[in-house]
Amino acid sequence: MSSAKKLFIKTYGCQMNVYDSERMAEAMGAEGYVTTDRPEDADMVLLNTCHIREKASEKLYSDLGRLRPLKNARPDLKIGVAGCVAQAEGAEIIRRMPLVDLVVGPQSYHRLPDMVKSKGAVVDTDFPAEDKFDHLPKRKALRGPTAFLTVQEGCDKFCAFCVVPYTRGAEVSRPPERLIAEARDLVERGVKDITLLGQNVNAYHGGDWTLARLVRELARVDGLERIRYTTSHPNDMEDDLIAAHGDEAKLMPYLHLPVQSGSDRILKAMNRKHTAEQYLRLIERFRTARPDILLTSDFIVAFPGETDEDHRATMDLIREVHYGAAYSFKYSARPGTPAAEKPELAPEIGDARLQELQALITTQQRATQEAMVGREVGVLYEKAGRLENQMVGKSDHLHAVHVEDAAGQVGELVRVRITASSTNSLSGVRLG
Ligand code: 5AD
Ligand code: SF4
Repeated sequence: MSSAKKLFIKTYGCQMNVYDSERMAEAMGAEGYVTTDRPEDADMVLLNTCHIREKASEKLYSDLGRLRPLKNARPDLKIGVAGCVAQAEGAEIIRRMPLVDLVVGPQSYHRLPDMVKSKGAVVDTDFPAEDKFDHLPKRKALRGPTAFLTVQEGCDKFCAFCVVPYTRGAEVSRPPERLIAEARDLVERGVKDITLLGQNVNAYHGGDWTLARLVRELARVDGLERIRYTTSHPNDMEDDLIAAHGDEAKLMPYLHLPVQSGSDRILKAMNRKHTAEQYLRLIERFRTARPDILLTSDFIVAFPGETDEDHRATMDLIREVHYGAAYSFKYSARPGTPAAEKPELAPEIGDARLQELQALITTQQRATQEAMVGREVGVLYEKAGRLENQMVGKSDHLHAVHVEDAAGQVGELVRVRITASSTNSLSGVRLG
């Protein structure tokens, strides 16, 4: 029987939160906590939250409501709220939900072990002078051969709809030598595929290093086979990063480049500081450097003031780019953002536009997958498939691929011929 304390973490929202949850689990691991996937067994429940849209935020409160019986039965159960709702609402969370013991923001979670030991409710939403990464224990590879690596946090862009500049603060880049060391360490633990994370990842500036330089140096790390980065902003794109897609074999042919809207009028109202044409020209340059690059984006429909014509411009842009996939959202007014001051469109308008846009994206996603059939791609095995003699992994273009392979091992990077496409994945056979 182990006497280790158990920690249950639920992660909402983006990949940065997935990364932060892993680091929080490691910080608590150093205090003797092991993770569990059952909240009923946990000594501590941590909800790592997202504030980006109202729905995501409200989810926290319904989940907290559901934890009430557990807390009533076991008053010593610690309940913590982390992430962007913690940052935005702070002590208000405890006022609204007194069962919460601690509230910790995204920049201060290295203090979590101390907070857990303190008696009574604690709130820490500082942007501390010390760097949390200096205080966190070394990484463990928790997710097989792929890993996230946060290189940059925060955003200075202030898109009119977005809470991120307020919840995650100003743009800060981590020192490059630390990142190279962290990457080497991950590779020693079996990681072959690293996704560099940042709210504005291509705004990365570590001393005089840009993201392109970081990518090029990481490409020299033996054993690291694949590099990706997300999320980028069109206005921070440097020439050398585009070039790297053409000449750095380890940089994968995949780019998530949100545009949000295809209407110049709406882009202006959103404070995006670029036009649809500038975005399209940028995409063209990526395709020149790497013709098979798979593009994805984010879209917001029904931004305040969006007309049918604006929406048509977005649909036209999508047709022109032809995406491999995209995330699309109905505009959600967020407290404290400039757009929240403006009158909202009727919800049915947003619902109809979202449906139309998603139908188009689905068609493009299917076509992109169909076009892979017959092609040879790299696949990194992440786990055994549900069928016998089957492995599952991600292709260079980030498609999930089921591969017939009796001898396959997790962590192997193999060549695969794609033979079929289904709704959300591809199938293929191993070559050689
Ligand atoms: N309403 C709807 N979608 C939003 N996003 C950010 N803020 C909002 C909002 N207020 C979307 C954007 C962004 C993605 C992460 O979430 O498309 O790129
Ligand atoms: Fe939000 Fe815009 Fe910054 Fe992206 S670039 S995090 S959408 S403010």
